[in-house]
Amino acid sequence: MPERILVTGGAGYIGSHTIIGLQEAGYDVVVVDNLSNSNPESLKRVEQITGKQVEFHGFDLQDRQQLDALVQANRIDAVIHFAGLKAVGESTAKPLLYYGNNLGSTLSLLETMRKHDVNKLVFSSSATVYGDPRTLPITEDMPRSATNPYGHTKLMIEQMLEDMSKTSDGWNITSLRYFNPIGAHPSGSIGEDPNGIPNNLLPYVCQVATGRRDKLTVFGDDYATPDGTGVRDYIHVMDLAAAHLAALQHLDHPGTYKAYNIGTGAGTSVLELVKAFEEASGVTIPYQIADRRPGDIDSCYADVSLAARELDWKAERSVTDGCADSWRWQSQNPHGYADRT
Ligand code: NAD
Ligand code: WQD
Repeated sequence: MPERILVTGGAGYIGSHTIIGLQEAGYDVVVVDNLSNSNPESLKRVEQITGKQVEFHGFDLQDRQQLDALVQANRIDAVIHFAGLKAVGESTAKPLLYYGNNLGSTLSLLETMRKHDVNKLVFSSSATVYGDPRTLPITEDMPRSATNPYGHTKLMIEQMLEDMSKTSDGWNITSLRYFNPIGAHPSGSIGEDPNGIPNNLLPYVCQVATGRRDKLTVFGDDYATPDGTGVRDYIHVMDLAAAHLAALQHLDHPGTYKAYNIGTGAGTSVLELVKAFEEASGVTIPYQIADRRPGDIDSCYADVSLAARELDWKAERSVTDGCADSWRWQSQNPHGYADRT
């Protein structure tokens, strides 16, 4: 019988791409998503790509009754927990929303898993747990800190998971600390579909390219980086999806908590990303330099050797691949999933 994976937040950007990998690898997938930041059209498109059905349940993970009934009715072998709110600026303006949703949904999930003896979990963490890193590249054992409520929720959840793994319940938990996800499925039929004005660089660039925004604002050109603009480790979402499969396949050590950096190991500046996008799309991106965005750091990129060693995973796609794939998605769907719904 195929293993059945509960994917929380599966209608979202990273979840929908990961479900494709899961279905293609032969897993059965059950999704819980309250659609607070996604559109069910993403899962319809996943079904078109894989030719397999996705079992979807539209409720909030904090609804313990519904979650309990779902896990009771299904034999769940493992959980991938993507669900959460992720906008850094919004988390500073609405901390209770973030603590409530991200911690509340995780508590509800863990309690339900415990009740039904489901103890394998892969959790979506973030490079944000390293705060302003003192040295680069970032290794998993470096000091962790957060500079905003969103980051605090990731730190707190990681702590919760580590504590759970030390109980006698046999938990086997892996946190994947994603660096900066970009790209889309090569078909161009699913991709990142932010609500309102995008916070992240590449979705913003894509909307400039379609004419939805006038120009890109580059936040600062006086950082201690080669061209003065911020440097990040952009990881293709298809590589990220593959990392979840690798993590799932290594959940065979009860009583273990592990965290892995999921990046490429290379840094790319804002202006380099803009150039890569222009080359991949053939579209010129007008931009203006502005002040630094509060809370931003100079540079952030991963040491990825631990994931290579222990998960047998490494990124295979380039930043140019990510730009080309994001552009295919955006140009085919200028208004995201709203074009079809
Ligand atoms: P996303 O917003 O596209 O997906 C998250 C999904 O979770 C959404 O579909 C949303 O509707 C759902 N959700 C939120 N709260 C819920 C709740 N209480 N109950 C049920 N569903 C709920 O985000 P994403 O980019 O796919 O990110 C997935 C995970 O990865 C998040 O936990 C995020 O913090 C983490 N992460 C994302 C990035 C990034 O830049 N995209 C980087 C590092 C980590
Ligand atoms: C990248 C670079 C900006 C927009 C965020 C979260 C992090 C993680 C990933 C969830 C920076 C510059 C951006 C723009 C710009 N998410 N920029 N103009 O800030 O590295 O990380 O997303 O866990 O927690 O903080 O990503 O894409 O916002 O910015 O110049 O309009 O692009 O200053 O140097 P960031 P980003």
